[in-house]
This record gives sequence, structure tokens and C-alpha cells, in this order.
Amino acid sequence: MPATTNHQLRRQQLLDAIDTPVLLMAGSWISRNYPANWCPFRADSNFLLFFPQPEPNAAALFDPRDQSVTLFLDERTAEDALWHGPVPGFDEMKKGLGVDSVQKRTDLAAVIRKKVGKRRVRTVAIADPRATAEALALTGEDLDFTKADRVADKSLVAAIARLRDFKNSSELAEMRACAAVTAKAHVRAMAMTRPGMLEQELVGHVEGTFARQGCVPAYNTILSVRGEVLHNHAHHNLMLETDLVLLDAGAENHAGYCADVTRTWPVNGRFSPEAADVYDIVLAAEKAAIDAVRPGVRYRDIHMLAARVLTEGLVQLKLLRGNPDALVEAGAHAMFFPHGVGHLLGLDVHDMEQFGDQVGYAPGRTRSQQFGTRWLRLDRDLAPGMCFTIEPGIYFVPAILRNPEFRRQFKGQVDFTRAEAFLTMNSKRGFGGVRIEDDVHCTPSGAEVLTASVPKERAAIEALVGSGQ
Ligand code: GLY
Ligand code: MN
Repeated sequence: MPATTNHQLRRQQLLDAIDTPVLLMAGSWISRNYPANWCPFRADSNFLLFFPQPEPNAAALFDPRDQSVTLFLDERTAEDALWHGPVPGFDEMKKGLGVDSVQKRTDLAAVIRKKVGKRRVRTVAIADPRATAEALALTGEDLDFTKADRVADKSLVAAIARLRDFKNSSELAEMRACAAVTAKAHVRAMAMTRPGMLEQELVGHVEGTFARQGCVPAYNTILSVRGEVLHNHAHHNLMLETDLVLLDAGAENHAGYCADVTRTWPVNGRFSPEAADVYDIVLAAEKAAIDAVRPGVRYRDIHMLAARVLTEGLVQLKLLRGNPDALVEAGAHAMFFPHGVGHLLGLDVHDMEQFGDQVGYAPGRTRSQQFGTRWLRLDRDLAPGMCFTIEPGIYFVPAILRNPEFRRQFKGQVDFTRAEAFLTMNSKRGFGGVRIEDDVHCTPSGAEVLTASVPKERAAIEALVGSGQ
């Protein structure tokens, strides 16, 4: 039975925060073709916050009136034990998890009816549509997992977010463990890189490293010599001598916590002069952003700081023209940095993103309408315990740099002729993109970089690339 002290603490904190019963669903197996051939099971993150290694189909009722937590589990059958191995019985689960009662999953509706009576029950819509439909039939709510403002009642979202926002010491230990595994995977990928390999082979090294450490990818691995495609999940390219390869991959451990790291390196182990220039600008922006982390700082200001450092570098590279502040104000940086500087991190790689800007943005703050900055997923004031990514990048995206409207809008500010040279260099394969991403914990005195052991200095990367051959 996995350790559960922290989950018990979190359950008590939820009980203290609610005034009506709450039903949470773990979700269940989802078939990949015929019913008994399942995708790997992953419990909903809000369930993982309260229960270690939940079983598929588990449900839990939190009742603030008697401060009880009732866990509902599938009955143990001889047939299940034969095919999938024996699991602890209900008594053992109750004792091990420290819940008040364990009931048969088939009795969910009856137990809720009896225990709750006429009181209102709330739930959270989750990715598993069957579990959500079942929960909604019991609570009578009109929720929708795909609509950020209808995933759960706003006050329940706020109660859960208050718990998930600030990682305690045991959650931080999980996140550090994920970061360590992720570091191994990135180092292995760098070491195994050689020209002439398929991207897929490197993906094997990354995900094989996760698997050997008992982890899974926290999200679909992004590994590509086409790093300008921000979330490139295709891995069929041959990696040539002169390409840069971008790896954005993070491990998720048995507790459900995760890491999210990006590194970019030259396939042949030597940064070209252009690649070195661009890399150094991105690294400077990343370090400046990390240095700015401390309680009370607005995350949007960190985004703008990164944009400003990138812009200064792009002016020096003669890709942008003009005063850096005016360029950032006009949004010209987004021609090369078209996304936000990061997002919350925890049990989800974009933590609590299903709740949308109710969690990602402070009250009264709304998304910018400007191209680029409108993708900023977080605009809160930082506080101790918050974990998030810092991930600036510079990309040469044909669809942006050859877009006639952008060419008109930024005519005097972007040197599109020079940008075209980057789009066509490397025997017309193009420059691609550079992103550098670390995971940061905001402490009372500043940033703790959870992923500091993943090499990012150019010299360290050059020494590592190809060294495992
Ligand atoms: N790791 C992918 C992302 O942050 O969007
Ligand atoms: Mn990220």
C-alpha cells in the first residue's frame, strides 16, 4: 500500500474548505479498440491529489457534515485476481488509506442518496466521459469537461486550486524526483545523438529512460529537428549533421507529478555561429526570467522581461530594428517568440489548465489580445510553493515570417529579408527553433530550479552530444 500521509492531509484540507458534499471520480479504463484492450490508466489529477495510486473506477464522497471520506471501489472478484493479480480487500484499503469507509462501487448511487439526503452534491467533470456522465446524473449539475468555465462550480474550483497551487514538502519531493528522471532522459538523448539517426530512435532513449525509472511521459514527447513547430509530435525526420534538435519531454511518476523540460542541441555536437548566437539569446532570456522569480512578482512581468531580453538579442542579430521597449510594446518579438513564457506545473503538465483562466489568471486580469502574448497561460502574482515553467524560445516559423499581414504590420521593425535567410539556411531545411525550459519552484527567497541538473550551457551540451556512441 503506497504512503498516504500527505493525501490524508489534503483530504482534511478539502473537508475544511467545503460546506456541501463533493463527489470525485478517478475515471476508468478507456479502450483503445476492443473493450478489453485498454489505454494505460491515469486517474484524474484531482483524485490523485487525495489518493495514492487510485484504482480505475474509484470514486470518493467528501462529506463536511460528519467530516467523512467514503471511498468506492470495484468489488474484488476471483476472475480479476486471475487475470490482473490480487489486490487488497476493502478492510485493508480502509486502514491503509485512512478513509472512513470503503463501499462497493455498484452502491455509489444508493450510498450517496442515503448519506446526503436532500443536500446539494457537487462534482468535477473529468476527461473520462463515462465517469463524468455518471457523476452528473448523481449531482444533477450541468458541467462540461471541455468548457473551462463549466468544469466545476467556481467555489469548488477555488477550493481545489488553493490546495493544488502551493506544493508542500512531500509534493515537492515528488516533483524533484520527476525532475531527476527527466534529467537522465535528456542527458541520455544528448549522448546518443548522431547524424543520420531518425528522431524516433532518440524518442526511444527518452521514453525508455522514463520507463526504466518507473515513469511515463507526462505528455506526448516533442522531439524534432523542426523545432519551430511548437508542439511537434511527429518523429519521422532523419536528423542531419547541420540540424538543431529540440527535445521537450518530462517524466510523470507513480504519484502523478511531473516535469516539463526543453533543451535544444546541434545534431553534430557543434553549434554553428548562427545557432550559438540564437542559443545565447534564449539562454540569457531564460536566466533573466528565472532570476526575476520571487514572491509578489507578477508572472506576466516575467514574460515581458523574457520578451525584452529576446528582443534586445534579436536587434543585435539585426532581425529586429528599433528600440527594444517599443518593439515589445508593438508585439514585434512575437514574430520569433509566439508563445507565453510558461505555465503552472504539478499533477498536470499545464497544471489545472482544464479550469482555464479562473486558476491561471488573477481576478480582474484577462488575456492580452496581442499575437503571442495571448498564449500566456499564467498571469498571477507568484507566491511560495508555486511551481511553474520558464520556457522562452526563438523560432523561425515560415507561416509567421512569410505571412503577408505580419509583413505589412511589422515592415519597419522586422528585417524579413534577413529572416528569410534563416528560413532557407541549412540547405533549405531552415534554422528551426531554440527553446530552453526549466521547472521552477518559487521559494520565499527566489527560484529553486528543480531541473537545474539538465545541462544547458553550450559547452556542457557540446561535450555531451554524441558521447554515448
Ligand atoms: N511541454 C509542452 C508545453 O509546455 O506546452
Ligand atoms: Mn512547458
